Amino acid sequence: MAASTGTVNVTASPPKHPTRTLAADAAGIAEAARTLAAGGLVAFPTETVYGLGAIASDARAVARLYAAKERPSFNPLIAHLAGIAAAKRVGILDPVAKRLAEKFWPGPLTLVVRAAPDCPVCDLARAGLDTVAVRVPAHPVALALIAAVGEPVVAPSANRSGRISPTTAGHVLADLRDRIDLVLDGGPTPVGLESTILDCTGDLPRLLRPGSLARETIEKMLAATIAVAGGAQIEAVASVAPGQLASHYATRARLRLDVTDVRPGEALLAFGPKRPRHAERAVKLLDLSPQGDLIEAAANLFAHLRTLDASGAATIAVAPIPAKELGEAIRDRLTRAAAARE
Ligand code: TXA
Ligand code: MG
Repeated sequence: MAASTGTVNVTASPPKHPTRTLAADAAGIAEAARTLAAGGLVAFPTETVYGLGAIASDARAVARLYAAKERPSFNPLIAHLAGIAAAKRVGILDPVAKRLAEKFWPGPLTLVVRAAPDCPVCDLARAGLDTVAVRVPAHPVALALIAAVGEPVVAPSANRSGRISPTTAGHVLADLRDRIDLVLDGGPTPVGLESTILDCTGDLPRLLRPGSLARETIEKMLAATIAVAGGAQIEAVASVAPGQLASHYATRARLRLDVTDVRPGEALLAFGPKRPRHAERAVKLLDLSPQGDLIEAAANLFAHLRTLDASGAATIAVAPIPAKELGEAIRDRLTRAAAARE
């Protein structure tokens, strides 16, 4: 196991060499596992978004990963595991964490727990914290890859730091081409929005990042309400989930949220059958879900944002999206994308 020294300066220019794209079949997965074992960086699909994988214990590979993403090294990574037994070797699951894991794994739930005494996730990937984020993804390619590697795989979203998370192999290449070794192309990710992150280090779980497992679903299972870490203050959240910086998911265009009236020259991100006034003014219109379905909207969010951003409009007007269920996470990402320009 490689040792690491807390923080690494990642302002150094990232490595440049051709990125290979392979189909996510048995041969592709086997090659991806070999590449990871040799210290390489491999992007692969999960049910939420594409992750950029490195072997969790390999501090050199993790340092390359931070450089490729241009991600600050104080922002820790999620360890991806094949199952609960593997997660228990990485972190200490208290009874509540264990219940959550048994109910929702494999699935889009990340648990922040105390690191196990011999935690194989290197210090760099944990940003020197005594906690660790663990998750078991519900995607056959991700699970097959982790199983083939036989070790925890750390995987942040496979985008450059601060940009929109990738839901296709093409999105990954748009950000990371020639900075990573391999992309396993498994088609569009089914859920499309990152996992929900719960801090399980205290008496009661706290929500660090709303995500594609709705808070209501978790609350129902626990028969308790879940507090949001840091309340509504994004900066406060940033101090507990270091990656939750206000300026995230940056589009080139400005975002205007909860729009009821479209202005000339704007692109429009619509939701549901009801259009904002003057929708005909939109230079380009995409609907997250014509029926107003939040699950469909989550799956379309990042790809639609990319397409509207590429339209060249200076501003993307976003129709109101309800704050319930997956709407909480959708609104969280849109708020961050809007904040990036303010
Ligand atoms: O759906 C997902 O979670 C995707 C797929 C690839 O699994 N991954 C993902 O990773 O979104 P990333 O690195 O983009 O976001 C992980 C978040 C960051 O905000 C980071 O700060 C937080 O998890 N995190 C990781 N370890 C933590 C810890 N020990 N304490 C608090 N927050 C932590
Ligand atoms: Mg990310």
